[in-house]
Amino acid sequence: MIQMNTVYQRKSNGTIILGLILFLVVSCKHEIPLPIISNVPVDIGNGNTLPCDSDSVYFNQQILPFLIANCAQSGRHDAASHQDGVTITSYQTLMNSGIIEIGDPNDGDLIEVITDTDPSDRMPPPPAALLTAQQIQLIQTWIAQGAQNLNCDGGCDTSNVTFNAVIKPIMQNKCQGCHQGTSPGGGVNLSTYLGVQGSAIDGSLLGSIEHGSGWSAMPKNSSKLPDCDIAKIRIWVNAGAPNN
Ligand code: HEC
Repeated sequence: MIQMNTVYQRKSNGTIILGLILFLVVSCKHEIPLPIISNVPVDIGNGNTLPCDSDSVYFNQQILPFLIANCAQSGRHDAASHQDGVTITSYQTLMNSGIIEIGDPNDGDLIEVITDTDPSDRMPPPPAALLTAQQIQLIQTWIAQGAQNLNCDGGCDTSNVTFNAVIKPIMQNKCQGCHQGTSPGGGVNLSTYLGVQGSAIDGSLLGSIEHGSGWSAMPKNSSKLPDCDIAKIRIWVNAGAPNN
């Protein structure tokens, strides 16, 4: 909004060309009004929920999981690839990448690429879907609030991802029904560490849960895993799929 005002002021000052350039730059972006975040219920376990402070955006619970799920693939912004010098695996790496303009929700490379309408410039690149309007608004609110490294109880905790505490239960609950016993789906046995590790290493685990091209989309015949699960699995795979 502030930028649009600037455009009109400059135009009325007679600096028409500068005004036009600014207008073109501004009009390439979606100007999304900042949302008012109402109560965000957060799972604190035992079936209880406790609202986080409804006025704040909690980076670790509300933003990092979908950023990791959408941007930290191999070949893009994981630690090994860090395309264009950008690594999106944690608060620290994101901030070190220099793509956030703290306090200005309409500026900075991150906002520019996720709101860009040109398919050759926008992120994530096609055929991946764009971030949702709600995710973009969360990022903008977070930046406007100072791009802080905040946590609240519960939600998606990506801080301590181990095979036994985190990955195994996801496999048990969402995959093993079809991936155990003598003839598991696709010959892939996900009921043992070695089976899961094998799929992690050959790329099929992430490829299938992210619905990557060339892989069978998993879990078969049901909706995609939540971003939080995908983020945790990617963190574990990127760490070398340890038996921990
Ligand atoms: C309803 C049964 C079912 C569920 C649930 C399921 N799978 Fe599968 N999965 C299959 C079948 C069947 C195949 C063989 C390929 C095909 O038919 O699409 C397969 C194939 C795979 C493959 C090999 C993919 C490839 O392209 O080589 C992987 C990896 C895999 N599944 C992982 C998972 C994971 C991880 C989950 C849980 C998030 C899961 N599956 C849930 C049935 C299932």
